[in-house]
Amino acid sequence: MIDNAALWSSLPVPAVLVDADDNILEINGVAESFLNASAKSLRGVPVWDRIAVDAPLEDAFSRARNLGTPLFVNDVDVGTGNAPPLQCNVQVSQLVDGDGEMIILISPRELASRAGKSDSVKSAAKSAIGMAEMLAHEIKNPLAGITGAAQLLSMNLSQADLELTDLIVEESRRIVKLLEQVEQFGNLQPPAKHAVNIHDVLDRARRSALLGFGGHMTIVEDYDPSLPYALGDADQLLQVVLNLLKNAAEAADKKGTIRIRSYFEHSFKLRRSDGTGQSLPLQIEITDDGPGLPQDIKGDIFDPFVSGKENGTGLGLALVSKIISDHGGWISVDSIPGRTVFRISLPRAPKDLVPPEES
Ligand SMILES: Nc1ncnc2c1ncn2[C@@H]1O[C@H](COP(=O)(O)OP(=O)(O)O)[C@@H](O)[C@H]1O
Ligand SMILES: [Mg+2]
Repeated sequence: MIDNAALWSSLPVPAVLVDADDNILEINGVAESFLNASAKSLRGVPVWDRIAVDAPLEDAFSRARNLGTPLFVNDVDVGTGNAPPLQCNVQVSQLVDGDGEMIILISPRELASRAGKSDSVKSAAKSAIGMAEMLAHEIKNPLAGITGAAQLLSMNLSQADLELTDLIVEESRRIVKLLEQVEQFGNLQPPAKHAVNIHDVLDRARRSALLGFGGHMTIVEDYDPSLPYALGDADQLLQVVLNLLKNAAEAADKKGTIRIRSYFEHSFKLRRSDGTGQSLPLQIEITDDGPGLPQDIKGDIFDPFVSGKENGTGLGLALVSKIISDHGGWISVDSIPGRTVFRISLPRAPKDLVPPEES
């Protein structure tokens, strides 16, 4: 026979037992942290004083009690008074053979989906991203507070002290930028695949590079004008090319040349581990004449948080590689001092598919 107390404390989600008058009788350990209060201190407290549900739950709750049927409410905001409300699934059911006691289970949706995510991804690197994503979420709020406080402080300061508050504000901005990249990574949607004119993507990327981070570079185009449409998500592919151009521009000391080349290679096939093959005939190469990949990280540049730069995040190529693999494509790199080539191989769009703007 299983010990009831052990069963209760093993429940992986916040669980609350209430009496016939909706007063708390017992809560499990997870609920103690969820409500930020001990079971002892909550005994006898009306449950709806401690848990605010953004839905007409009380009616449904009493119906569940009167009819004895369990109640499932999905996607409601549950507030506990000590943190922003969380989207949760709430389950309520009557205690078997009880005197009207009810059990309430609260499953925060965010935590649930995050846990699910880290189950399905295997590599340590990907779970590092999951962790970082969660942290990013948690750090941004207090950081905004710190920045705000520093800005308030700076209103009555001498010039020397102003430098210090400026430093706080500036460094906080840098952290926010890093966190946003981590979140961007975590929020990446599966590609919305259409027929994509790769040259439009390359052109947009080239122009925005020249206007911004790549102003010091010469960018040479070498396109095969007969290239068919690729099957992909134009916005995501733009992000890929921008990240590659940015790295090429950052690798160059003062000036440098980047060559963007497109060509068709009929025979390029990716053989998967399950034996099936995928044809990836569209090739894009981005070549720079910088110093080449640093030796010590050469084999790991596509992993998150691997960077050879002092202020690098190491997320640019990780995002690139995620997007390309979501496209069923392939990316490779070949680098010696003076010549670094990133090559992307993509599938072509089915012949009857036309780009959204031409349809
Ligand atoms: N074109 C390139 N030339 C030389 N090194 C590169 C190039 N592209 C990437 N790298 C190296 O790979 C590292 C990882 O790149 P990335 O994932 O974009 O992160 P970050 O740019 O933030 O450092 C860079 O820090 C750099 O050392
Ligand atoms: Mg980068």
